[in-house]
Amino acid sequence: MKKEKLIRKYDKQVKIYENKRANPKFAGLRNKIIKNAYGKVLEVGIGAGANFSYYDRNNVEITGIDFSSEMIMSAKRAASISQVKAKFIQEDIDELILEPNSFDSIVSTLSLCSYPDPIATLSKFNSWCRKDGIILLMEHGLSSNPLLSFTQKMIDPLHTKISGCHCNRNIDKIIGKSSLQVDQIERYWSDIIYLIRAKPTK
Ligand SMILES: C[S@@+](CC[C@H](N)C(=O)[O-])C[C@H]1O[C@@H](n2cnc3c(N)ncnc32)[C@H](O)[C@@H]1O
Repeated sequence: MKKEKLIRKYDKQVKIYENKRANPKFAGLRNKIIKNAYGKVLEVGIGAGANFSYYDRNNVEITGIDFSSEMIMSAKRAASISQVKAKFIQEDIDELILEPNSFDSIVSTLSLCSYPDPIATLSKFNSWCRKDGIILLMEHGLSSNPLLSFTQKMIDPLHTKISGCHCNRNIDKIIGKSSLQVDQIERYWSDIIYLIRAKPTK
């Protein structure tokens, strides 16, 4: 899908993401992963700022990235409500250039599904994260349940057309091929949801 079309698709979904911010199904999982973030935090695909209320606000300075102007505006409002220190960059992750080793924590939740080349994106995380920093992911992908994964593969073209995100990404393979050194993986919901704590390799 062309980038401009994808941006428009996400712009139009901002209200949906605002309504899902407090989704109780994800609250515990977001809390579990986000509470590990500290220091200078880069959050990519920040969306409507669903993670802000889970950060330890006295211990983080967040830089939020998103290519959707509507999402950035919504995230700014969410940051102000949660009183977290945050600045924002409206940019495509594939074109974003940041100093290597410049963040203590890199965060991505439910966003690897949207990027054209998620392994390349993880390689950017690897570069931007400090040697002793942490990479925190909450991602969705292919279930280990054969019936569910078959359905995910079948509906992926329509799912992507409607939402902009792929539901058939193989998270184990993506992480395995990336340069990240995994410390901990937890899987939920028939292994559709992954919580991952990783380190960069330098
Ligand atoms: C599925 S939403 C997830 C939002 C949020 N992280 C959450 O947990 O609710 C993906 C977000 O990534 C953004 N996004 C997708 N592709 C992007 C890209 N190539 N560069 C920057 N942002 C992107 C979208 O605009 C959207 O806000």
